[in-house]
Order: sequence, then structure tokens, then C-alpha cells
Amino acid sequence: GAMAAERALAMATCTAPVNIAVIKYWGKRDNDLILPINSSLSVTLHQDQLKTTTTAAASRDFAEDRLWLNGEEADVGQPRLQACLREVRRLARKRRGGGTEDAAPLNLSYKIHIATENNFPTAAGLASSAAGYACLVSALARLYGVEGELSEVARRGSGSACRSMLGGFVQWQRGERPDGRDSVAQQVAPETHWPELRVLVLVVSGEKKQVGSTAGMQTSVATSPLLKHRAEVVVPERMALMAQHIRERDFEAFGQLTMRDSNQFHATCLDTFPPIFYLTDVSRLIIALAHRFNAHHGRTKVAYTFDAGPNAVIFTLADTVAQFVEVVRRSFPPATNGDQFVRGLPVGSASLPEELVAAVVTEPVPGAVRHFRHPGGGPGPGPQPVDDPSQHLLGADGLPRRCA
Ligand code: DP6
Repeated sequence: GAMAAERALAMATCTAPVNIAVIKYWGKRDNDLILPINSSLSVTLHQDQLKTTTTAAASRDFAEDRLWLNGEEADVGQPRLQACLREVRRLARKRRGGGTEDAAPLNLSYKIHIATENNFPTAAGLASSAAGYACLVSALARLYGVEGELSEVARRGSGSACRSMLGGFVQWQRGERPDGRDSVAQQVAPETHWPELRVLVLVVSGEKKQVGSTAGMQTSVATSPLLKHRAEVVVPERMALMAQHIRERDFEAFGQLTMRDSNQFHATCLDTFPPIFYLTDVSRLIIALAHRFNAHHGRTKVAYTFDAGPNAVIFTLADTVAQFVEVVRRSFPPATNGDQFVRGLPVGSASLPEELVAAVVTEPVPGAVRHFRHPGGGPGPGPQPVDDPSQHLLGADGLPRRCA
């Protein structure tokens, strides 16, 4: 709400979604500006089950910038966080210079407090940096009253974060300019476009991420000839095709291209020297299971994709969710948490035809899949403002309300 001429304390809260790439981003041409060697395309997930919430506050009474992640104080000096902060403030300054000044501009030299929380544990097996930086930039932009092209700012936090600035189906254009002004996210189709599409996350046991994305892709750029070919030849063709399959809601074509692109990304990891292994034996069992499932049905009913880790993300259509979940349950019987095997929105039960079990379910591997996450719904919307003051993560004293 509007306050007196110079506001003593201003606060803004936003939520932001996770996104899953179906054409993968892997490799930078500029490490500082985070400019990619190829374009990428992703699906923004629903925020009901998976989201980040961030509150940003500025006050003349704050002595220093501070940051809390899930209630724990963290280093506010991280270069990527500082880059986002600098860029939002630059846009705020520019906007004021442009004469569209609002009644009570927030003093840009005030120190800020930021609190951010995920409603899903790190163990959910999903990268939180995309939602995290998208949320940070959205909250800061709201705090400073900045609108417009913000994906460019989120990109400075984490490449994949720029795609979480929009809902539905989103492409990140690699752009041509050395300053990155054209390396931005654009919506291919809104979240309402394909409501039958479903996303399942299969969390695989015993993961310990060996190489982070940032370091991994740097080695790949330096050593993998396959990655160079992928960026120059393969991805440009696939971007156009993927957008078309989405526009046409062609699940078979969408699913096949999604699987192929995940496989090629992991092939570039193997082509990196020394090689990087993100997929595990269990990941490969899930891949084989998906192909047996599709072969049995005589068409592509499920599609997998894997990021820089062993957990599978499965795309399917609403009418296939229950059956595929049951197939996974039979193939990887839960070791302990039988009742918590499916998390998120409930999945209806399905009885499996004998011949499907015989053709698709091989020797069960107990405990290999820890649990399922069913975020529910189809693709979801982009960052959302949170207007209810009781939902702010910081209290009127500028300190976190809850502790993790
Ligand atoms: C495999 O966006 O995490 O998930 O830009 O260095 O922060 P930085 O990397 P990041 O990389 C994501 C890689 C990926 C594919 C994708 O999301 O497109």
C-alpha cells in the first residue's frame, strides 16, 4: 500500500514455479552474463505442490543486507544474487529516470532483507535454483515497482531460472547479442493450452550429485565435440519441432522428442572428458520400463526426462497416470514407506491387465524408487504476487517469522 514520502519499511512477497526442460540447456558462451550456447524449452510446473516463496524487504533501519534460506541465514554476497539485485535496482533507477516515477519511491540505497522458502524438500529431487532465482527477482521487482522484461535478470541468477518467469510452455532464446539483451524467455503456449498433460517425478534412492550444473557444463563446453554439434545443428531443428508438437498437443511427437533430447544431453555428459555420469542404474531401469510400457501399448504413452541427476521426470496424459504409477509400484516395490509412495495429489488406483504385467514388469527391484511426486494438474502459471501481509516470510521487524 502507499505510504508517506519516504517509506521506512517496504515489503513484497512472490511465489515462483519449478520448470522442467524438454529441450535441455547445457553450456554457456558467456559465464558471467549466463548466455547459453543453445536455446532451450521447458514446461512450467504447477505451484500447488512445488513452489518457492520469497519475501524481500527494504528499510532505512536495516544495517546490512541479509538472506535466509528455509529459515537459516545464508551468504548474501553470492555473486549471482548480487547480480540480480544490481540489475533490478538498475531497472528501478532507469524507470525513475524515465519520468514514470511513483508517488513514494523506495530509497534504492536502503539495505534489504530477503527470506526464501521451498514448500518441497531438497530431497524432492528437483533443482530449486530455477524457482529460487525466479522468485527472488519477482519479489525484488515488486519491491522496487519494476515491471517488464525480467527473465533477463533471472537469467543472471541461474540460466534455467529465466524460464520460470513465465507459465505454461516457455522457450529461452539463446540470442545473438554479446550483451545478452536478446537472451530472454518467451511463452510458447499458456498453461491452459494442454490441461491433460501430467508430470510425475520419480525420486531415485541413493543420489549424491557428483558434479553441479555450472561446473559440469563448463567442462562439457571445453571438451565435448558432441555438445558443439548439438548446439549448432541439433537443437535449432528441435526447438522449432518441439514448439510445433506443443502447439498441436501431439503427445507422441512431444514425448519422443523429449526422450531423445534427454538422452542426447546425457550422451554429451558421457562425451565430456573426464565423463560426467548423472544417470544411475536405476535411472536406466526407469528408461527401459518406459520403453517397454510404450512398446506394449504400441504408442508413446509416457516420456521421461532427466536433468543433472538420477531422478526421472515423467510426462504423460491424465488418462495414463494411474496405470503407469501402478506399473512403477510393481517394478520398484516401496521398501518401507508404502503409504507415502505417492506424494502430492492423490493418484487413482488402476488394476493392471495380466498381459501388461507380463510384458512390462520384469524382476522387481525393491526400494529403488523412493517415492513419486505428483504435482497435479497440467502445466502451471508463472510467478505470482502474494498480497496477504500475513503470508510475508518476514515480520514487521524485518526478521524471519518462522524458523525451519
Ligand atoms: C540440466 O540453470 O542450473 O537442468 O545457469 O549454471 O545456473 P546455471 O545452470 P542451471 O542448468 C540447468 C541444466 C539442466 C537443463 C535445463 O534445465 O535446461
